[in-house]
Amino acid sequence: MARRDPHSTWDDRQPRITAFEWDLAVDLGARRIAATVTHALDRAARPDEPIDLDTRGLEIEAVSLPSGEPLRHELGPDAPILGRRLRVTLPEGARALSIRYRTAADASALMWLAAEQTVSGEPFLFTQCQAVHARSLLPIQDSPAVRVTYRATVRATRALRSLMAARALGEEERGGERISRWEMPEPIPPYLIALAVGKLASAELGPRSRVWAEPSVLARAADEFAEVDAMVRAAEALFGPYDWERFDLLIMPHSFPYGGMENPRLTFLTPTLIAGDRSLVAVVAHELAHSWTGNLVSGASAEHFWLNEGMTVWAERRIVEALYGRERAELDAALGHRELEHAVAGFASRPHLTHLRTSLDGIDPDEIFSVVPYEKGYLLARALEEHAGRAAFDRFVATYVRELRFRSIATDDFVALVRAELPGALEAVGAAAYLEGPGIPQTAPRARSARLDQIDALGGRLPDAALAERMGPTEWQIYLSRLPRPFDGVAELERRFRLLGRGNFEIRAAFIELALDSGLAGAEDAAERMLAEVGRMKYLRPLYGALARRDAARARAAFAKLRGQYHPIAVQVLGAQLG
Ligand code: BES
Ligand code: ZN
Repeated sequence: MARRDPHSTWDDRQPRITAFEWDLAVDLGARRIAATVTHALDRAARPDEPIDLDTRGLEIEAVSLPSGEPLRHELGPDAPILGRRLRVTLPEGARALSIRYRTAADASALMWLAAEQTVSGEPFLFTQCQAVHARSLLPIQDSPAVRVTYRATVRATRALRSLMAARALGEEERGGERISRWEMPEPIPPYLIALAVGKLASAELGPRSRVWAEPSVLARAADEFAEVDAMVRAAEALFGPYDWERFDLLIMPHSFPYGGMENPRLTFLTPTLIAGDRSLVAVVAHELAHSWTGNLVSGASAEHFWLNEGMTVWAERRIVEALYGRERAELDAALGHRELEHAVAGFASRPHLTHLRTSLDGIDPDEIFSVVPYEKGYLLARALEEHAGRAAFDRFVATYVRELRFRSIATDDFVALVRAELPGALEAVGAAAYLEGPGIPQTAPRARSARLDQIDALGGRLPDAALAERMGPTEWQIYLSRLPRPFDGVAELERRFRLLGRGNFEIRAAFIELALDSGLAGAEDAAERMLAEVGRMKYLRPLYGALARRDAARARAAFAKLRGQYHPIAVQVLGAQLG
């Protein structure tokens, strides 16, 4: 073979990293991490054998054998998406190499927040390595096909606490420093390496779970996520034992660009989930479900991303159904279907990107991120489940997780297992149309729910007070998404239900978008207020889009003013969107 992942210089003929020892000194003032990493290899090197590592922005200070003997190395040109290849020449028999380096001020995996950008008034650092940003944090074969274990020592100021998505080994204070030690004993893809440093406190949620947050957020977070242990137990009943010891949560600052990130043992969550009524906990179910689909069984490259996300959306909805009932899971699926239609329309000029199995040579996975792999992947899993029957499909998923655990697989591996375990199912559901075809297959499953019918029956009319009172965020989003644009009842809707200022960000974002497209007075101001408050791309992208449709200059001016508080990935994606 050779290069197997279009987003990595990793070459599978070369020795492969299996484990690393990592020593990091985090300087929040200088916004730098100075580190030494020692990589262990799966086999001894042949004479003068090259090994290629991914890097982005790293200042390489020394490359040596663990004994200290320097090694020949060379940094390639800076390529878009890939970064710079670090080629090290290994002497015969070498089984490890050490690299001393520093991260760049603009490392794409790192978000450094100044004291005035956090609710605690203390600086904060967090990493986000998915899709391909681990290489800006450490030199590594940065493909999910390469699985690594690690041990890490983190030094930072004693005023703050460091957390890693790993097993905690202990902590000590020395001088002005706090030194913590970590271990990830299970082999994980590099995109699951994660670190956060900040003013953090914790509350216990159950025998295996606690929530971490900046102190003023902690009580509300602990209440919002109080059901997490019930969730872990429900998931275990569905998918088999939880293999990661702990399932802790870390509430991020608002500039966290995602809803959640399934960092093992420590899921990162946006604070926008804290709605006060536990209505948005499906995101926690989603990240928890990744503990099986994604973290145990991982897609071997971004071209198989649907294996992570589509299977996880399916698993998430099974957890939601087990805990909150079928109705709620079906509403989620109905909203997902709607969002999928919208996303597919957005890829009209590049329909191949709506196949589940994609070709992404030269394409930045962050830039094409959409719900397609999530919701189309979900539909394929659901179609298979409906065809085979729930009991048979559950057995298939159990086999999938058991046989392929701690492996990184391609779409073909999934297909082969379905063929073996559920003969005839692929043909019966027309799997090829999902995997290799554009858009939503004609025969795709449809969500069914009485509450959905009730909302559908409204059409363009306004809900009465009693119905509106009962509508959760998912129902509001479905309702709003089905209204014509522009909608001439928008002012009346706002007068009756005060949606522009809703505390629930899902409802608020969906309504502001409708309001902008319908010319409601005050919508631009509401949009700008929300754009200043949140950093989650799920909201930023549609809100900037709708604001730009209404007033392109204002959207660009708002972005120019606010970009400093957004995550580097969000800045890049929004920059491309706003042109
Ligand atoms: N792993 C993803 C987040 C991600 C994907 C980060 C690709 C970087 C690149 C995470 O599990 C996720 O899907 N989050 C969703 C949650 C939702 C689908 C419930 C999100 O952030 O909105
Ligand atoms: Zn996910």
